[in-house]
Amino acid sequence: MGSPHWKRLCLLLLAGLTSSLLLYGHYYATVESPTSQKILASLLQPEPLVLAPPEPSHQASSRRWALGGSSKPFKLSTAELKEPKPSRKQPSTCLHSVMSRAKADPKFGEIFRFDTPVLMWDQHFTPETWDRLKTRHVPYGWQGLSHTVVGSTLQLLNTSANRRLFDRDGVPGGCVRCAVVGNGGILNGSRQGTAIDAHDLVFRLNGAIIKGFEEDVGTKISFYGFTVNTMKNSLIAYEEYGFTQIPQGKDLRYIFIPSDARDYIMLKSAIQDSPVPEGSDKGDEPHKYFGPEASAEKFKLLHPDFLQYLTTRFLRSELLDTRYGSLYMPSTGALMLLTALHTCDQVSAYGFITTNYEQFSDHYYEVEKKPLVFYANHDMMLEAALWRSLHRAGIITLYQR
Ligand SMILES: *[C@@H]1O[C@H](CO)[C@@H](O)[C@H](O)[C@H]1NC(C)=O
Ligand SMILES: *[C@@H]1O[C@H](CO)[C@@H](O)[C@H](O)[C@H]1NC(C)=O
Repeated sequence: MGSPHWKRLCLLLLAGLTSSLLLYGHYYATVESPTSQKILASLLQPEPLVLAPPEPSHQASSRRWALGGSSKPFKLSTAELKEPKPSRKQPSTCLHSVMSRAKADPKFGEIFRFDTPVLMWDQHFTPETWDRLKTRHVPYGWQGLSHTVVGSTLQLLNTSANRRLFDRDGVPGGCVRCAVVGNGGILNGSRQGTAIDAHDLVFRLNGAIIKGFEEDVGTKISFYGFTVNTMKNSLIAYEEYGFTQIPQGKDLRYIFIPSDARDYIMLKSAIQDSPVPEGSDKGDEPHKYFGPEASAEKFKLLHPDFLQYLTTRFLRSELLDTRYGSLYMPSTGALMLLTALHTCDQVSAYGFITTNYEQFSDHYYEVEKKPLVFYANHDMMLEAALWRSLHRAGIITLYQR
């Protein structure tokens, strides 16, 4: 925080906050936010905040990953991570699986903890978990959230489908191959649609426009990941490019990232197929987003411990050490890719940030080239370095061109 770089960053952050308040104020007119703290939080989570692109010379993150361990992931005790049943306990018959590659890698072998719970469901709502998670702020815990809201939501996640991301029996061949499709401009003209659809499962997120881009991004969609903030903002920001509806389908499952009370509230309403009763989404009809067939089976909720584990071990940004540290979290794309890495046997990443990102537009669907937007609550350079490093270690296949 002492270096000129960080001073500059903070100034930019502040400038970003101020202009965002003005520019995006109308999106949040209905947010009940008595304190400025809450306004900042609600502004930052939807990813509307723009930060100047980092200087090419300052690639702190790549340095960190290249050197492997100048900043050690901080420790979580085993007790912290122990939960009733791990989401992943199925054996894998894959030759080169994420797990075997990760375990064999000197650096990543120390970072991955495959017994960390990925999803959260009804059995997790115990007095012990409540006491532990209420001390950590969202998305890593339940600080400030209502016991009733969290409890009544989790209570509804009581089917076997809520305890695992997918059923291995439904995937032939014993090796689950997943594609995670980010929305990066690198996919424009890529003709990767067939390759993407050839995977057993396809993860997409936020403004995942398919219609008109099938050749480049495919059509298959098994999971759609989001926070309520990013989902609703995507509908606003990318409407002009054709993102007018959240993807829906019989076999599609939704992955909620619990970044705010509104995610728990929306999730409960979605399962019950009833209008949102309170908060900033009050009155929203969940079937408008998720389609008519609502049931607990359709929804997955990421575990706050999983988010904590991912942030501390894989994406521990220097932004956390700034005064806005509490607003930092990995991007939706990063969380989906890391979720796939902890559940699938093989993972390919498409549309994620690469070293040559400046050659591409922000998203694949823009008509005119727009530079990649750096949000103040994410660390895209750190994410870029992580994907590169995982690709080099043979743990993921990162689409590059
Ligand atoms: C899950 O909870 C709902 C609502 O409390 C209940 O109606 C349903 O029977 C439960 N399902 C299972 C599998 O326990
Ligand atoms: C997308 O690709 C086409 C052809 O490859 C190109 O003409 C167009 O400018 C690209 N769009 C953006 C936003 O870069």
